[in-house]
Amino acid sequence: MLRISALRLLGRRGASRVSLSEDFSLRQYSSGPLGVRDDTRDSRAYFTTPIFYVNAAPHIGHLYSALLADALCRHHRLRVPSGAATGFSTGTDEHGLKIQQAAAAAGLAPSELCDRVSAQFQQLFREADISSTDFIRTTEARHRVAVQHFWGMLKARGLLYKGLYEGWYCASDECFLPEAKVTRQPGPSGDLCPVSLESGHPVSWTKEENYIFRLSQFREPLQQWLRGDPQAITPEPFHHTVLQWLEEELPDLSVSRRSSHLHWGIPVPGDDSQTIYVWLDALVNYLTVIGYPNAEFKSWWPTTSHIIGKDILKFHAIYWPALLLGAGMSPPHRIYVHSHWTVCGQKMSKSLGNVVDPRTCLDRYTVDGFRYFLLRQGVPSWDCDYYDEKVVKLLDSELADALGGLLNRCTANRINPSGIYPAFCTACFPSEPGSAGPSGRAQAEDYALVSSVATLPEQVADHYDNFQIYKALEAVSSCVRQTNGFVQRHAPWKLNWESPVDAPWLGTVLHVALECLRVFGTLLQPVTPSLADRLLSRLGVSSTERSLGELHFLSRFYGHPSPFEGRRLGPETGVLFPRLDQSRSWLVKAHKT
Ligand code: MSP
Repeated sequence: MLRISALRLLGRRGASRVSLSEDFSLRQYSSGPLGVRDDTRDSRAYFTTPIFYVNAAPHIGHLYSALLADALCRHHRLRVPSGAATGFSTGTDEHGLKIQQAAAAAGLAPSELCDRVSAQFQQLFREADISSTDFIRTTEARHRVAVQHFWGMLKARGLLYKGLYEGWYCASDECFLPEAKVTRQPGPSGDLCPVSLESGHPVSWTKEENYIFRLSQFREPLQQWLRGDPQAITPEPFHHTVLQWLEEELPDLSVSRRSSHLHWGIPVPGDDSQTIYVWLDALVNYLTVIGYPNAEFKSWWPTTSHIIGKDILKFHAIYWPALLLGAGMSPPHRIYVHSHWTVCGQKMSKSLGNVVDPRTCLDRYTVDGFRYFLLRQGVPSWDCDYYDEKVVKLLDSELADALGGLLNRCTANRINPSGIYPAFCTACFPSEPGSAGPSGRAQAEDYALVSSVATLPEQVADHYDNFQIYKALEAVSSCVRQTNGFVQRHAPWKLNWESPVDAPWLGTVLHVALECLRVFGTLLQPVTPSLADRLLSRLGVSSTERSLGELHFLSRFYGHPSPFEGRRLGPETGVLFPRLDQSRSWLVKAHKT
């Protein structure tokens, strides 16, 4: 980050402080949820992924960022009425020195490299079932208009001045670094080379006249925003980290580069000798997508949830909100932060040759399988390690055996020859455990199961709100295990449909298990959309009965009619999730290496 001490300012230094008492005032933060227009706040939501650099092909870390956003967005859609508008954007970050240098190294024009790699991201996201509503490329004309307009707003509000920047720049991370964040490491020729302490990427000394943004004026407003909205950055440790950063000095920020040095970008309006800093350019993508600068963007901003990796927290939690406040807008509603994937204990990198190709993984483990793995194992607060055996073990046990086995046990022709959703017998399973008459068969553990599954949707929603999707999946998985225990305990295969004593209880056991499966299928839709679709279709659940509002779990137990009782099950009887054959050649190879 640029330090004041590294600046010899050529321009006006003492411009008046930014006024924050305009239409988007900080009063909004202290009085609860943010909102530009309250009537649209509740019905509209807008989710974003970071936009991805096109210097190299996508890897599983990129897919993970997109999947987290996709799952959050899909879960939101399950919660709100079907007419409510939900936006979800992703895209590629195509300007800047990093891309300019990568294109030169590959002997390509920058635009060729961008087209090629952006297409790879688009294809990956299509294959991985990412349900985005827009894919933005920062080289598009609509984006240039938005960035230049945004720049004009900052300029008009006296927040940009010209100054001399002298300090370190890291092209790989596209950021300025103070001396304290730079170390020396032996380079390829053995000489000590300056590198970023955090990322290990090379840095170079830069000295040039740039436009500078008065970031230092935003330290207090940012502190007020974060203190007034403790959930602005989730999980909490990241919120805390940003507040700690804000305890330190917040230097002004250089927001342009000399065009002779950086030509691959958006020119500063009215000054072609300067190109806009790629992070300012990139962050504005979130506004471009919602129509900025046309007024329509106001119905989407700031009901925004940014999903980002921890490495880009400073850009999203300090620079971006400050730029927004500077341009007269509110900071985003939520910033959800996740950690990184390592591979066999090491950081993924091209030079180490350990980059995991997400498309190979989708092929091997299926789209649903790999989505489930990344979201079930990825923990936002700390890094997770990837290796193939872990995927096989998890998917075999949770999707193939536990969930697929449960569905099979309750729908197989042998056990349910009529192929219908059986009736629930209230005398066998009365809602009050103590009130069971002679036909009562349910045991204490069965009531515990009903209570766990009844509260599961709310628990899952809380975990989504706290960006703990892995915990939501853990909770579902635990209920699947509990349901298998229920079926095992009552061994419906030992009961006889022909016996008037057994039949009502047999139907009840299957009814309860199918109701539990219906809840699991509904809750798994954001993570494993086609597996959940197959599961719900097998249960005969129509497409209008799959939202959280339509769930009504085990309504017969609670004294209400059930629309499912007596309904024909879906015709598709195939295996829900096939066990991954451990003898597959790729796995053997992975063991040997
Ligand atoms: N272009 C910027 C973002 C601009 S957003 C206005 C950028 N791009 S990136 O391609 O380097 O990273 C995109 C996302 O992928 C980030 O959220 C980053 O944290 C994430 N990941 C990159 N490597 C990762 C892992 N190894 N594991 C998990 N996520 C990772 O930064």
